[in-house]
Amino acid sequence: MDNYVIRGTNRLEGKVNISGAKNAALKLMAASIMASGTTVVNNIPNIKDVWTMVDVLKKLGMEVNFDDHNRLEIKSSSFLQHETPYELVRRMRASIIVLGPLLALLGKAKVAMPGGCNIGSRKVDMHIKGLELLGAKIETEYGYIKATTDGLKGAIIPLDFPSVGATENLVMAAVLAEGVTEIENAAREPEVVDLINFLNKMGAEIEGVGTSTIKIKGVKSLKGINYTVIPDRIEAGTYMIAAAITRGDILIKKAQASHLELVISKLRETGVSIKETKEGIRVKSLKRPIAADVATLPYPGFPTDMQAQMMALLSVANGTSVITENVFENRFIFVGVLNRMGSDIVTDGHHAIIRGVNQLSGAPVKAPDLRGGAALVLGALAAEGVTEISDVYHIDRGYENFEQKLRLLGADINRVSVEADAFDEM
Ligand code: EPZ
Repeated sequence: MDNYVIRGTNRLEGKVNISGAKNAALKLMAASIMASGTTVVNNIPNIKDVWTMVDVLKKLGMEVNFDDHNRLEIKSSSFLQHETPYELVRRMRASIIVLGPLLALLGKAKVAMPGGCNIGSRKVDMHIKGLELLGAKIETEYGYIKATTDGLKGAIIPLDFPSVGATENLVMAAVLAEGVTEIENAAREPEVVDLINFLNKMGAEIEGVGTSTIKIKGVKSLKGINYTVIPDRIEAGTYMIAAAITRGDILIKKAQASHLELVISKLRETGVSIKETKEGIRVKSLKRPIAADVATLPYPGFPTDMQAQMMALLSVANGTSVITENVFENRFIFVGVLNRMGSDIVTDGHHAIIRGVNQLSGAPVKAPDLRGGAALVLGALAAEGVTEISDVYHIDRGYENFEQKLRLLGADINRVSVEADAFDEM
């Protein structure tokens, strides 16, 4: 078990390179199941979730090689299995994303139900309803989703909510279906756009990329390609807030400002200076942030994956802020942990009221999940004294070389190995 030990108040300054987007990479890996031949994907982040997806693909019988240069090579297999085991899906809910590709290619799939998690129930009812509209027969039993079809057929699929995962699973199921599929109220996240661009390069015929209505004309087969993943906008946003909360000055290289418009406008509202340059995004702050209200929404709204990081910044702002979480039903667990560091936040349903304090103070805390863990690091960077963060494995899922990148910017952060404490508070 590893912990982070962080001594706060250093100003972070310098340049940081953003890695490839976790939430795009995982889906491109799933889509490669449907390719005949070899697929090469560049700029894949070296993070735990990618290694989990490598395990999933290998379990399915694919040949996967992930070298140490963020390059992934995937060879399809004619002996493809159609089942993903529970222990892999338990490790990463996103494994459900292989359901669409397996069903499209093999006409059957058996994928463990992704359990709920710290941030919500993570239901998959929209995935299932959409696949049934495409002609799949779905049974959910013993913790597994079993899907079979004797041929998917194009359909009109209205989504109650612009679910990222449902949109992606249904697009991938539809690309090999017979006829035309139309997904209404589809998700428009940059990672969904990256997946659709990837599929079209493989030979799919998908229109409406980046809009709420996606039209997919079924094709007979898809070929292996060479592709490069977009930069990770949430990693970039996390470093933007690292600059803001330490009153630092960071150039975030390879970040795409067009993927971060609401984060940029909200940070400017708190008084942070943000300049888009040809190298990336320059974020500078010389003074205490001003309070601001934030509501998370599906893209292009403020991203829910930036909510905890924004809360860390607003916890030391001048004034009172309100954060409204509209995407997940339980994404405020982080509040109780940050309050141990001296923040003054109360939650009421989907709202968190944040009374800005002058300074956080270092304390022993536990990362509750991936983004809450990253936000605790941000709080610790600004806090007076030393913070020890346990359960760092949550953060390793989504941030490549996190402590190395922060140390290069001047952060006083070290990773220490500790014995797992059997009496860890539950
Ligand atoms: C993706 O999760 C991301 N994960 C999440 O990032 C991100 O927070 C989320 O999209 C929203 O942007 C990956 O891409 C691997 P959803 P996903 O389906 O696809 C409900 C991170 O930190 N819902 O858009 O699971 C669901 O419960 C992670 O990197 C249903 O009710 O998100 C949630 O409340 C966390 N029924 C809401 O919709 C369904 O069938 C949004 O979920 C599907 C979803």
